[in-house]
Amino acid sequence: MSETRGDVLVVDDERAIRDEVAEALSAAGLTVRTARNADQAVTLLAERRADVVLTDLRMPGVDGLALLKQILARSEGTAVLLMTAYASVKTAVQALKAGASDYLLKPLVIDELLAKIERVIAFQNLMLENKRLRAELRSGARQDFYVGSSRVMSDVARAIEKVAPTRATVLLRGESGTGKDVVARALHRQSELAQRPFVVVDLGAIPEALIESQLFGSVKGAFTGATAGRKGLFEAAHEGTLFLDEVGNLSLESQAKLLRAIESGEVLPVGGTRPVKAAVRLIAATNVELEAAVAAGEFRQDLYYRLNVFEIALPPLRERREDIPGLAQFLTAKLNASLRTNYGDLPPDASLRLLESDWPGNVRQLQNVLERAMILGDGLTISGADLRLSGEGGSGDFDLRRAVRGFEREHIHRALTSVGWSRKEAASRLGISTTSLWRRTTELGLDPPAQPAS
Ligand SMILES: Nc1ncnc2c1ncn2[C@@H]1O[C@H](COP(=O)(O)OP(=O)(O)O)[C@@H](O)[C@H]1O
Ligand SMILES: [Mg+2]
Repeated sequence: MSETRGDVLVVDDERAIRDEVAEALSAAGLTVRTARNADQAVTLLAERRADVVLTDLRMPGVDGLALLKQILARSEGTAVLLMTAYASVKTAVQALKAGASDYLLKPLVIDELLAKIERVIAFQNLMLENKRLRAELRSGARQDFYVGSSRVMSDVARAIEKVAPTRATVLLRGESGTGKDVVARALHRQSELAQRPFVVVDLGAIPEALIESQLFGSVKGAFTGATAGRKGLFEAAHEGTLFLDEVGNLSLESQAKLLRAIESGEVLPVGGTRPVKAAVRLIAATNVELEAAVAAGEFRQDLYYRLNVFEIALPPLRERREDIPGLAQFLTAKLNASLRTNYGDLPPDASLRLLESDWPGNVRQLQNVLERAMILGDGLTISGADLRLSGEGGSGDFDLRRAVRGFEREHIHRALTSVGWSRKEAASRLGISTTSLWRRTTELGLDPPAQPAS
């Protein structure tokens, strides 16, 4: 048997059995304690829990079944294995129903005993691991926020962890593509409001004339043609999180209304007279210097203070280059799932290429560049040559043949993808013969995507 780590308590009124079992278990690497009756067992468990209790069924005083019930009542995740003579197999079955993990027949066969204990411990470890994974999944940490090894991002991660469970308003700052959206979602998921709505308002995308009704709603008849009332985004986020993206884009007039809604915890729908409750946890994001906007009189100072309770600044990617390889790996795995490809670790030349860039578009740009290379590639290995950083090539690479070839490759790839890689159909769509398509795909190194590993 391989080394198993675990803490076992052996309970039996027969000394010879206690000694034999204890010796075998210790030899297998387990930590063993022994007790001669149920009372002593309970005392020992009070001192320190055990992973497994191996107990005789028939003992003078409190029997194994009663001990089993006491142990399960402690709900410390201790597994119970019963030992019994053939005569009382019926009782053993009853014990299984009462929650015992397994039972062993006496006289004991040591190999069988070890195998069963090992299995029980392996199962316990599995349950623990599952529990941990579920918790991680719930927090979302594993799903879509990559932290990396840079000092700045560790600080960001720590700030998220600290502020998420509070209801404090958070202001996220950072250039476009640095991960403000991702962080806003992580904050919501790690908060007590996680089961409540998370509502995003992109203030940069809503026309000024519509902002008020979008945010606060409107009543029937508020506009010509408004035949029904409309719930606003504030109200939709009630008791949840409201994410105000691009908050620097608001006009002074809308800023005043927003401030009033935040401070009162209620909103007045357009055309309405009765305010509606809307208590939300606010997260705001901006990629502009709000301080400068305040100084220029374009952003209300009181609103600025109201939003800037807890600030998290997301550093541009070029200031944390050490995170690039890990981030690329993380994004590749994520994209593999959506593109149904099977790309592995980035080859060194590809990594180097990524490290050399300045990434003005930050993580979003990195993700786009990877996605493009993954669409162009063979489904298994990302080629450094396919990692074309946007803007590259425009700066002096006028080689016509290379440009035409690049276009041809992408165009053919699109055609093939659109017909599920049926070469016959793709050829007919492209208006060329199947042989010609065959030759071109070989020349251009276009292969059907690898089947994702199942
Ligand atoms: N730390 C990160 N871990 C994983 N993905 C990230 C991270 N930062 C950004 N991304 C990805 O980059 C893209 C842009 O991020 P986003 O949060 O929308 O940026 P912003 O809101 O700051 O413009 C998203 O697709 C997101 O998944
Ligand atoms: Mg964003």
